[in-house]
Amino acid sequence: MKKIVANFTRSLRNLLSPHGREVRRLYREKGYLEAYTEQTDERVAKNPQEAIGGSWEEVGLLQFEFLRRQGLMPHHRMLDIGCGTLRGGRHAIRYLDPGCYSGIDLSSKAIEYGQELVQEEGLSDKRPNLVVSRNKDLKFGEFSGQMFDYILAQSVFTHLMEEHIEECLQHVGNVMHDDGQFFFTFREASTPTRVTLKEFAYPFSFLESLAAKHGLVLANLSHEYPHPKGQKMARATKGAKDGRATT
Ligand SMILES: C[S@@+](CC[C@H](N)C(=O)[O-])C[C@H]1O[C@@H](n2cnc3c(N)ncnc32)[C@H](O)[C@@H]1O
Repeated sequence: MKKIVANFTRSLRNLLSPHGREVRRLYREKGYLEAYTEQTDERVAKNPQEAIGGSWEEVGLLQFEFLRRQGLMPHHRMLDIGCGTLRGGRHAIRYLDPGCYSGIDLSSKAIEYGQELVQEEGLSDKRPNLVVSRNKDLKFGEFSGQMFDYILAQSVFTHLMEEHIEECLQHVGNVMHDDGQFFFTFREASTPTRVTLKEFAYPFSFLESLAAKHGLVLANLSHEYPHPKGQKMARATKGAKDGRATT
């Protein structure tokens, strides 16, 4: 109860502060992804490890160890959608063979920080491919001709509107092997809900229908994913012709 009151008080204080007003104006005056990118850049410049959700060690390891349990091996090719400042990416880069990790993010500041981190942590030989999403779309043109075994979007759909999520589900199959797996986290609600300026929640059944429209089959793996803030985990795989998952 104490925690809820403290969080509520903090949110209210932020909302009413001059900075809070500035942020609301940004989202009013610009397109959603443009405003969100600008705000993320600003947050990364202030504190790169907090900007992408905090719990740097805990959630970084949570996502990496989850992928390991799902069968990630050093030779697999992985795409980290919305890789941010490499909270989880740094673990994957260390583990995977050179050239096997790619990350993409809207925030050029996050990618810059990620590149510095790779050097600081002595991971340059792993040759991660870190890309800024200049078109701000999720059509994966940046990776045209490449195929991945494991694709992850941790804390990304939690910040995206239905149209962005559908774009991702429509195109992700073009960069995913037939037996590849796309894992993404989401915040759950009984109806699609905009929780705050940049936080969204969806029913699993809603995401399942969107995925099915684009030939993907979803599994709910939330019971295997103890996220500290209650994010849920889903896996999308390419559907077989008879409508069943291929894996
Ligand atoms: C909460 S952070 C999580 C970062 C990282 N996945 C992690 O777990 O540390 C969300 C990140 O997703 C990025 N992002 C959100 N929507 C995106 C999109 N459509 N394309 C690329 N990056 C996106 C944001 O810029 C931000 O860095």
